[in-house]
Amino acid sequence: MKRLFLAIGLALFLTPLFLAAAETTLPPPTTKGGKPLFDALASRASAPGGANFPSRALDPQDLSTLLWAGSGLNRPGRWTVPFAMGVEPYVRIYVFGPEEVALYNWSRHSLLQVEEGDWRSRVNPQGFARAASHILVFVSDKTPLQGKGGIPEVWDKWLGVATGAMTQDIYLAADALGIGARYAETMDQPFLREILTIPSGEAPLAILALGKR
Ligand SMILES: Cc1cc2nc3c(=O)[nH]c(=O)nc-3n(C[C@H](O)[C@H](O)[C@H](O)COP(=O)(O)O)c2cc1C
Repeated sequence: MKRLFLAIGLALFLTPLFLAAAETTLPPPTTKGGKPLFDALASRASAPGGANFPSRALDPQDLSTLLWAGSGLNRPGRWTVPFAMGVEPYVRIYVFGPEEVALYNWSRHSLLQVEEGDWRSRVNPQGFARAASHILVFVSDKTPLQGKGGIPEVWDKWLGVATGAMTQDIYLAADALGIGARYAETMDQPFLREILTIPSGEAPLAILALGKR
């Protein structure tokens, strides 16, 4: 009997550990050197929209640097892009890759698995999205703004400003790394709402398809 209680106790203790989302720690991002900023500004362009979209696979180092450029910490308590009132990022980045869908956790610089499998072809019906190595999906999360100031009408503007800053940072970092990027607002909203469990009041805002040249 004592053994049975011990076994049940152990099972109850371990279950939450197995149920916790799988987390992948990203390698440290590249934060020095690289292509000069003004050269990257001069050559920034969206990768071709059709089947000629660059399709070579990104590696974990590429992903790490691009996500850091998008909303990583670049000093204690502040990020590579400006967020109103210095509150925590209110636009999330989800990563659709060949093996999983994951949420970028900026505080731990890691990926938290949301779903297993390859769902890239469902994000956007256009040809370039099918060729992409990874597709980033930007989703609003107004929780950090609640109770902090501003008014909800203004928050929508801030979401657009943040998405623009995040995606432009990634465009420039991608250019510096020889990675093609293409921003789009065409996306399958119902599918994204379902797979990412997006609550009402929040929305997918944009996607950025990525592939190595
Ligand atoms: C707000 C916005 C929405 C866009 N939506 C799409 C889209 O749904 N599909 C697509 O293929 N490209 C989309 N694009 C990419 C633009 O077509 C592209 O940025 C434009 O042709 C300018 O090219 P450039 O980025 O090389 O300067 C979008 C760009 C912006 C800024």
